[in-house]
Amino acid sequence: GSRQLEDGFGRRFSYLRLSLTDRCNFRCSYCLPNGFVKQDGLPPELSCEELRRAVSAFARLGLWKLRLTGGEPTVRRDFTEIARELAGVEGIRRVAMTTNGYRLAREADAWRAAGVDAINVSVDTLDAESFARVTGHDRLGDVLAGIDAALAADFDAVKVNSVLLRELEGEGWQQVLDFVAAREVSWRFIELMRTNDNAGFHQRQATPGEAIRERLRDGGWTPLSRADGAGPAVEYAHPDYRGKIGLIAPYSTGFCDSCNRLRLSSRGRLHLCLFGTEGLDLRDLLQHDDQQDELVSRIRSAMPSKTRGHRLHEGDSGTTPHLAAIGG
Ligand code: GTP
Ligand code: 5AD
Ligand code: SF4
Repeated sequence: GSRQLEDGFGRRFSYLRLSLTDRCNFRCSYCLPNGFVKQDGLPPELSCEELRRAVSAFARLGLWKLRLTGGEPTVRRDFTEIARELAGVEGIRRVAMTTNGYRLAREADAWRAAGVDAINVSVDTLDAESFARVTGHDRLGDVLAGIDAALAADFDAVKVNSVLLRELEGEGWQQVLDFVAAREVSWRFIELMRTNDNAGFHQRQATPGEAIRERLRDGGWTPLSRADGAGPAVEYAHPDYRGKIGLIAPYSTGFCDSCNRLRLSSRGRLHLCLFGTEGLDLRDLLQHDDQQDELVSRIRSAMPSKTRGHRLHEGDSGTTPHLAAIGG
């Protein structure tokens, strides 16, 4: 069947976030402060073929936007091949990716040519020293060169993800304004989310997005109306700036009401929420093309268990150790 996938709250799903790997080569203080640590006994990452079968089934259920995430998706050697394969799946109209940007300057053209339409890059600060402290890598220059390469490669959209941390507060607002004045990017500040591994860090470093809202209002920025099926960011525009500034505020009320996405982990588990349960294993139905009907029904039958929203306010981050484990 091809009826649009819906949950018990009438939310419709058009967007699949596909994690290609848990691995990452950075060690952001709020995510993987000790770097990626390999755990024994975990099942392998989905192969390119398994990924294609998964995406085909979701596309049959009406999902048309795909985001490749991780961990860092581009640590997979077969990343470009995967992007090309998945961009070719019938029904997939848009392929986006989220990356820390460390290979972007070198690979932007190749990824664009493989069929990636849009790219989100993480940059928490434009100060090189702070960047090195937060990510564990002195690579701000490479990442910014990557963003400019992406703009030159003519992606449909280039966005920046910037996590709000108390230690960066006050620092760099003017740098962000200058960056956005000159470039057609959407710079999105994100409220730090508590996960099971970062509780202490969250307590020390979380800061509400409200301060950004006030700055934008005072600076003459106007909020754009959110298009149907838009992502979690509220974007602001200003006539003197080429780019936009956005805010992703998962702690604000009603954030989950417009949820339009499902997640598949790199090990083949379907997650109905970023902060939910262990997920539903789909791998056994990714082995042959003739299992597609069964896969479609399994996904459909999971939908009623999608909860109304996360419970981060109550200090409950479900089973999520850190966002690299589930694709952010
Ligand atoms: P666009 O579709 O380009 O707007 O991107 P996106 O915001 O969906 O994706 P991206 O991977 O860039 O995510 C940006 C930030 O929003 C990340 O920190 C995500 O963890 C967070 N985020 C995305 N989706 C959700 C969600 O469903 N729930 C929560 N709580 N946070 C989310
Ligand atoms: N809270 C908010 N954002 C986070 N990210 C990773 N962990 C967290 C967290 N705990 C961001 C990364 C990246 C995006 C995919 O998710 O910085 O930009
Ligand atoms: Fe890696 Fe992204 Fe986590 Fe940073 S936030 S450690 S770049 S997965």
